[in-house]
Amino acid sequence: MAQQREQWGTRTGFVLAAVGSAIGLGNIWRFPYVAAENGGGAFFIPYLFALLTAGIPILILEFGLGQKYRGSAPLTFSKLNSKWEWLGWWQVLVCFFIAVYYAVIIAWAISFTFFGLTQAWGDNPSDFFFGTYLGLTGGPFELGGLQAGILIPLLLAWVVTFAALYSGVKGGIEKANKFFMPALFIIIIIIAIRGITLTGAADGLNYLFQPDFSKIWDYKIWTAAYGQIFFSLSVCFAIMIAYSSYLPKKSDVVNNAFITGFMDVGFSLLAGLAVFGILGHMAHVQGVGVAEVGKAGVGLAFVTFPAAINTLGAFAPVLGVLFFLSLTFAGLSSLISINEAAIAAFMDKFSLSRKKAVSIYIAVAAICSLVFATGAGLYILDIVDHFINNFGIVFAGLIQVILVGWFFNLKSIQEHVNAISDFSVGSWWIVCIKFITPIILGYMAIMNLIGDLK
Ligand code: PHE
Ligand code: NA
Repeated sequence: MAQQREQWGTRTGFVLAAVGSAIGLGNIWRFPYVAAENGGGAFFIPYLFALLTAGIPILILEFGLGQKYRGSAPLTFSKLNSKWEWLGWWQVLVCFFIAVYYAVIIAWAISFTFFGLTQAWGDNPSDFFFGTYLGLTGGPFELGGLQAGILIPLLLAWVVTFAALYSGVKGGIEKANKFFMPALFIIIIIIAIRGITLTGAADGLNYLFQPDFSKIWDYKIWTAAYGQIFFSLSVCFAIMIAYSSYLPKKSDVVNNAFITGFMDVGFSLLAGLAVFGILGHMAHVQGVGVAEVGKAGVGLAFVTFPAAINTLGAFAPVLGVLFFLSLTFAGLSSLISINEAAIAAFMDKFSLSRKKAVSIYIAVAAICSLVFATGAGLYILDIVDHFINNFGIVFAGLIQVILVGWFFNLKSIQEHVNAISDFSVGSWWIVCIKFITPIILGYMAIMNLIGDLK
């Protein structure tokens, strides 16, 4: 007998879960420096444009698809056209690759939450992170053994993810996000307030927000903006389709999409204030320019930030703990969603019970994530991250909007969405899905290919 599909307990529960997926490592360690490097204040023009022409329209599309066809991405695409199932599996595969390294970064964040209490990283956070913590002494090809210090936090990250997914949509995923999201917003607001009231904060914020309008015609800031919006809103990853497949028959998806989009952007802005306020303070203390301290990615979160926390005096322990706790909470709620996208797909395809699908999938993913807990981990992480960001996402997104926009009756989804939502979407939505987004994604795909061949 076919089982009833699970459902969210409340509408807020669904929105919190969608927001939980959206707000992740990408908002805290990626957004601030992407903005700063791509025109500062001027970046917000392409960023908001990308939000309104791609982010929110695709969220509406995915919420509508999942809600209407009540399936994970592979099942949903196969219902649209039996030949399109593979697109869903491609997105699931991308999710798998993301999950295995995402978990490791969360494990680092968990460790650093404890280190933050005493600033265990000492005076040289770079040596501490790469040497003491990761145990990297040689070049990138050095294949050390397993990094013992990571194993316990990594296990912890997987146990939390397993527990949430195993307990089901309402009893697990929804519950976890009802805790993580309010906690996360409270934490980031505290850090942001402390950040912007530090001496020197103004320099940091200037660096982040001061518009460099000469860059506005540079295609790079536009592709950076679109890339950031896709990554951040978790669209074209099979995730939002899976989450919305658990919506009740009548549920406002347009409103939900706008709330999710704006919460995500709002959080990014708060994270930007927090990060650059504190970096500005550090630059002030060290008497250097903000540009010299604001480095990107792994370095920003685990090297630059610890150094910045060292300059906070009596506040250092509190902010040290809170900053890495915010990374941990943001990361875990996203990791849950990245895995659910795949688990829902396997449950649909092989009629597995949730408990069985979760147990097998999480065990496999957890074991694979150990690769990143070796001496070569950081090096592999860079390669995987590059390919996922430049090809996995762009192609999955491009094919999705072309297939659904051009080879499927997009109007039928529009009608479905409008019938259940307070606000209706009009022709702007069709234009975004059929023209604007495919053109920009197509352009990004070509530029990425050229960039990689060079
Ligand atoms: N959107 C989240 C982030 O910005 C999580 C995520 C990352 C989801 C990558 C899908 C893909 O970190
Ligand atoms: Na999250």
